[in-house]
Amino acid sequence: MYNAKEYLNRLELSNILRESVIRTVIDKLKLQPGSKGLDVGCGTGFYTLMLAEAVGILGHVTGLDIEEIFLEKGRSLASESGLSKRVSFIKGDISKLPFEENLFDWAFSMDLVGNLKTDPVMLLKKLSRIVKPGGIIYILNWSSQRLLPGYPVLEARLNATSLGISPFDANMKPDFHSMRVLEWYEQAGLSETRVQTFVRDISSPLSRKMRIALADLFEMRWGENNPELSEEDQSEYQRLCRADSPDFILNVPGYYGFFTYSLFWGRVGIDKIG
Ligand SMILES: C[S@@+](CC[C@H](N)C(=O)[O-])C[C@H]1O[C@@H](n2cnc3c(N)ncnc32)[C@H](O)[C@@H]1O
Repeated sequence: MYNAKEYLNRLELSNILRESVIRTVIDKLKLQPGSKGLDVGCGTGFYTLMLAEAVGILGHVTGLDIEEIFLEKGRSLASESGLSKRVSFIKGDISKLPFEENLFDWAFSMDLVGNLKTDPVMLLKKLSRIVKPGGIIYILNWSSQRLLPGYPVLEARLNATSLGISPFDANMKPDFHSMRVLEWYEQAGLSETRVQTFVRDISSPLSRKMRIALADLFEMRWGENNPELSEEDQSEYQRLCRADSPDFILNVPGYYGFFTYSLFWGRVGIDKIG
């Protein structure tokens, strides 16, 4: 069952993996200094603060999340980093956005739109309502990984299980897959749509923190006792992916793996469908 506190720990652990690639993405956005933005499904607020740094002293970013525990973390990170004036954290649901029309210059959302079982086009229309005409909606989604060098077939089988493709599942409409954002943008009336994929390379030597984060990532993506795997694959997975195994894949000298994030962007039109 979903436990928000455990998930918060997991998100914090993942920062060492994601921080550098997300920083590159945020630099790429070239956010207007002084602009006002929204980070929907902001989680711990770690990346909301990066966005707040990018808009400069005259800008402002609102982090919105459905879980209070994440917002509290965001507020404490903001005060630790002296960015409290540039950022606020508000509790809310992406499908019932508590903001007036045309309030923001841009909206950003990482690993949320496309991860919910709610119609993404409807969510984009809701976001379009609160972004000014001409403003941009950015959707950033984890899009792939190659983390088991030497074991591509096992990795393919792991990725083919329900856990591996989660939150998309075999019964979902193909149009709801998180790589279909450009199609959703079009249906929601956005223009000048684009996508770019960013890679995070990971290679040895790996710090202790990085090894812990990767072991946690293996467990999060592929589970511990995945019932859809054969016994043989299950034991191979445990041999290669558990930190206490002598054959832990990260012990391979010259380990190399990578994962990708895909950034989608689209412009809100003057004749937007709110
Ligand atoms: C996968 S996490 C991503 C967090 C953050 N964007 C990051 O990448 O670190 C998804 C976040 O969306 C939040 N969330 C889930 N459903 C939501 C909803 N309906 N409205 C707003 N936030 C939601 C969760 O509480 C969680 O913090």
